[in-house]
Amino acid sequence: MIVPLELRAISVDDPSALRAVYRVECAATVHARPGWVPLDEAARAAVWQADNGWSHQLVGAFEGDDLVGFASSSTADDTPDTAWVDVCVLPTHQRRGTGTRLARAAEEAVPARVERYVASAYLPTATEIDALVERFAGPLGYARATTETVVELDLATAELAPVVVPAGTTVSTHLGGVPAHLRAQVGVIKGLVDAEAPHGELGWEPTPVSVEDYERELALWRAQGRTSVESIAVTDDGVVAAWTCVVVGADPARPAHVEGTLVLTAHRGAGLGRAVKVASLLAVQAHGEAVRVRTSSDDANVWMRAINDDLGFAPVESEVLVQKVRRGPSRA
Ligand SMILES: CC(C)(COP(=O)(O)OP(=O)(O)OC[C@H]1O[C@@H](n2cnc3c(N)ncnc32)[C@H](O)[C@@H]1OP(=O)(O)O)[C@@H](O)C(=O)NCCC(=O)NCCS
Repeated sequence: MIVPLELRAISVDDPSALRAVYRVECAATVHARPGWVPLDEAARAAVWQADNGWSHQLVGAFEGDDLVGFASSSTADDTPDTAWVDVCVLPTHQRRGTGTRLARAAEEAVPARVERYVASAYLPTATEIDALVERFAGPLGYARATTETVVELDLATAELAPVVVPAGTTVSTHLGGVPAHLRAQVGVIKGLVDAEAPHGELGWEPTPVSVEDYERELALWRAQGRTSVESIAVTDDGVVAAWTCVVVGADPARPAHVEGTLVLTAHRGAGLGRAVKVASLLAVQAHGEAVRVRTSSDDANVWMRAINDDLGFAPVESEVLVQKVRRGPSRA
């Protein structure tokens, strides 16, 4: 008997619904990305429920009471014009039009002020990415905005030597947050990463992170059992000239990941990017929880890629970012 498929909203405050969402997300993602290791269930639920300036709408595809797919649309207070759309369908239920229906339902659930939809997907090869864009995202109206390559460093074999920095600059590394008096400056730098790194057609503006939001993010990572490892280069007159952050989780099977790296324009060309990156990786090695570190850079970001290649990071996956302008009568 064929059970009809029904789309229904899901509340992020409903624990049993979130459990089903987690199961579908893990099954779909492991199928698409062999070897991918999920966050544990509580840590993943914490992301959906965090009070961190993001709001999430979830819609599920149900066969009776069974969830077979879901889509989410997420908007952040500091980029209210953009909704991030994500779709996952159980491998046993793919290629029946469910992902397409879910994506459309997620688009309809966004706040009126949203002007564009953005989505990202990770797959082992660029060829699989091309097929996904051509056959799934393209017919939904999305166009490729940029591509990134995901790279990993094996910490057991990485040979990392501290980098000598110019006189008048000091590199330091901090677990669980930089000193309080530097958080506002680090927040400004974090807000520049997306705006200043190449991102194809996405056109991000600077979005400074307030001290309060910086601390809310630290609190979320702590609640998830994760540790942030931040390295900064500070000049003698107190300017944070460079920053990077690696987040290390409790499960060594899951790679630690680089949140971002940025050197302020006036301080570029002096090796500070490499210096903070090496300092953070040495601290992650010493911390002992992570076996691998993962990061991704836009394919046009020759500077970051050169540093990563040189440190021994090797490609593991491709990522595509697609976007679609919001049109139609539903927009206020
Ligand atoms: C991407 C995903 C949500 C598609 O779900 P789905 O229910 O199979 O989607 P649909 O059945 O609506 O697919 C519509 C079309 O896209 C094609 N398609 C779906 N996934 C594809 C993929 N990974 N590669 C190539 N084509 C794909 C389908 O074959 C179908 O094409 P057809 O009409 O020519 O047969 C599902 O594969 C999934 O959960 N992937 C893992 C999570 C992910 O990558 N999400 C990001 C999406 S941007």
